[in-house]
Amino acid sequence: MNSHSDTQAAALEQLVPCDLDAGSIFSGQATGTKIKGFEAPSPFTPAVNRNYLFHEQARDLIVWFLYDKDPLYVFGPLGSGKTSLIKELAARLNYPVFEVTGHSRLEFPELIGHLAVRDGGMFFQYGPLALALKYGGLFLLNEIDLLDPSTAAGLNSILDGSPLCVPENGGEIIAPNPMFRFAATANTNGTEDTTGLYRGTLRQNCAFMDRFWLCEIGYPKPEFEQRLLEKTSPELPSDLRTRMVEFANEVRRLFVGSSTDSESRPDTVLDITFSTRTLLRWARLTVMFQPLSRQGISPILHSLERAVGFRAAAESRTFLQELAQRIFNTDYQPTELQS
Ligand SMILES: Nc1ncnc2c1ncn2[C@@H]1O[C@H](COP(=O)(O)OP(=O)(O)OP(=O)(O)O)[C@@H](O)[C@H]1O
Ligand SMILES: [Mg+2]
Repeated sequence: MNSHSDTQAAALEQLVPCDLDAGSIFSGQATGTKIKGFEAPSPFTPAVNRNYLFHEQARDLIVWFLYDKDPLYVFGPLGSGKTSLIKELAARLNYPVFEVTGHSRLEFPELIGHLAVRDGGMFFQYGPLALALKYGGLFLLNEIDLLDPSTAAGLNSILDGSPLCVPENGGEIIAPNPMFRFAATANTNGTEDTTGLYRGTLRQNCAFMDRFWLCEIGYPKPEFEQRLLEKTSPELPSDLRTRMVEFANEVRRLFVGSSTDSESRPDTVLDITFSTRTLLRWARLTVMFQPLSRQGISPILHSLERAVGFRAAAESRTFLQELAQRIFNTDYQPTELQS
């Protein structure tokens, strides 16, 4: 009987790399620029998100997929869209994605694989990095700055494009497949987090960091987030969506991590920020809680607490409520949704 890993290996062996038209894939209009991808998705390829919108910050990543083989390190504030952007590009190109989340106790064998027992015998169960190297595909290491720097530096030879030796599998040498790619995401750029907000992140070894192409993904521009809300929560009136984005940007401006320069620091400083993830959740909850408006409770303020307010410190939470009263110009007035 075939084991799960045999089935996976069989699916990965069927991968056929091909040239795709970059324009058709990312903007719907053929440009003649060829980009490498695969003929068909595999069980490891993420599903395409039809609500996904590419913003101008995607340019770096598209260029990376088009031309470069250096490992990529994408950093930026929480919930700005780093992981989803990489996975969305991979999905459109039919890349298998082998995804891992970093943590301080992550060890090399978790990435490479281990010996396992089957039918009374031993076999080698490949880990995500070994699978990506062997069959081709994207190895995505999220929260790479949570890794112990010495474990991270153990990846150096792979990052340099060297083959992987697997002593536990009879000394197997895995030469990197030409379609192998390494991308990482993180909230810091590999130096220390001076805000103290990204607990657990560690300053990485600078020789390790030197191997990456770095790319910063900040929060998208207001016009873009409005388009995003229009797509994901079309039930909300457009004026309301505009003010929600305005609210998010005001919170970001006052976030303690926004400016480390004490001169330009605003009087009010918040311990939380407003990620794109939170914004989308807030809009979704506002639609879900719409029936509350019949009881005279504002769905928008009710949802704000659940999307972000409850995890803020008391002072920030009060500030958020006051800011919401100001921006939405409402004293817990119900919000009318478009039918
Ligand atoms: N351009 C976009 N189009 C559609 N959805 C988006 C877009 N950007 C972000 N999102 C959504 O916002 C949420 C947060 O994105 P994502 O998980 O990629 O953020 P992140 O930067 O990796 O966060 P973290 O720092 O916490 O790892 C996801 O649900 C994602 O689908
Ligand atoms: Mg992420």
